[in-house]
Amino acid sequence: MAGVLEVRNLTISYSGREEVIKDFNLDIAAGEAVALLGPSGCGKTTLALALLRLLPGNARLLSGSIRLGERDMLRVAAGTLRQIRGAEASIILQEPALSLNPVMSAGDQIAEVARAHIPGSPRNWRRHAELALAEVGLGDSRFYSAYPHQLSSGQRQRIAIAQALVCKPQFLIADEPTSALDNKTQAEILELFKELRRSRRIALLFITHNPAILAGLVDRLWRMGGNWQAKTAKPLPC
Ligand SMILES: Nc1ncnc2c1ncn2[C@@H]1O[C@H](COP(=O)(O)OP(=O)(O)OP(=O)(O)O)[C@@H](O)[C@H]1O
Ligand SMILES: [Mg+2]
Repeated sequence: MAGVLEVRNLTISYSGREEVIKDFNLDIAAGEAVALLGPSGCGKTTLALALLRLLPGNARLLSGSIRLGERDMLRVAAGTLRQIRGAEASIILQEPALSLNPVMSAGDQIAEVARAHIPGSPRNWRRHAELALAEVGLGDSRFYSAYPHQLSSGQRQRIAIAQALVCKPQFLIADEPTSALDNKTQAEILELFKELRRSRRIALLFITHNPAILAGLVDRLWRMGGNWQAKTAKPLPC
């Protein structure tokens, strides 16, 4: 299978301090689902943000390479990065409230993502958003017009997933997408991820500190070390 992601010897630090990620390597094949496990603070979110070049200004990518499909992510221009994000690869964050706009309806903010990447008309983008909402189990039209504060946390996470998927990326990064949810909602969202994996064959990097939730979801586990010896990151059988 062709590689979707190839990370080599990635080293990152914040504000000139000690590296939080050092010599990190990871490969993900097309359609493959990999779980990234590791304790709090070991650099999981840092890695997820780095993959799409979303690190904050005080982060320094000291060495290494990130290849996403055919692209060298450390060399692409800003305009190309905007095209890649959402269309070729998407990220879902732990707390959907952070990624949703509170003053825009759920459907409109999904349609906005479609507008950024898919040629067409407002009607066309709305249709893409409606289909994405239906795919995450929110097909009822009231969800299209709902504002984030009118939705439950599980529904908000579904909106964020629809937003990430609307342009049919080949690779999805999910950074602890269920850890802010109660147990029942977490189980429902995990089931949705499994369904999406079956229906879309999308490559997935699923970040968590809780291996108990991964059964049936991923093909492979990849562990980031405890007090961050990620050099020692090893694939584990799932
Ligand atoms: N913007 C930042 N500025 C400075 N240091 C940061 C910044 N973001 C993260 N860090 C530090 O980098 C280290 C790794 O953080 P990161 O958020 O990547 O860990 P994590 O594995 O995602 O943790 P968690 O499981 O709690 O989400 C931590 O020591 C953290 O304090
Ligand atoms: Mg994190």
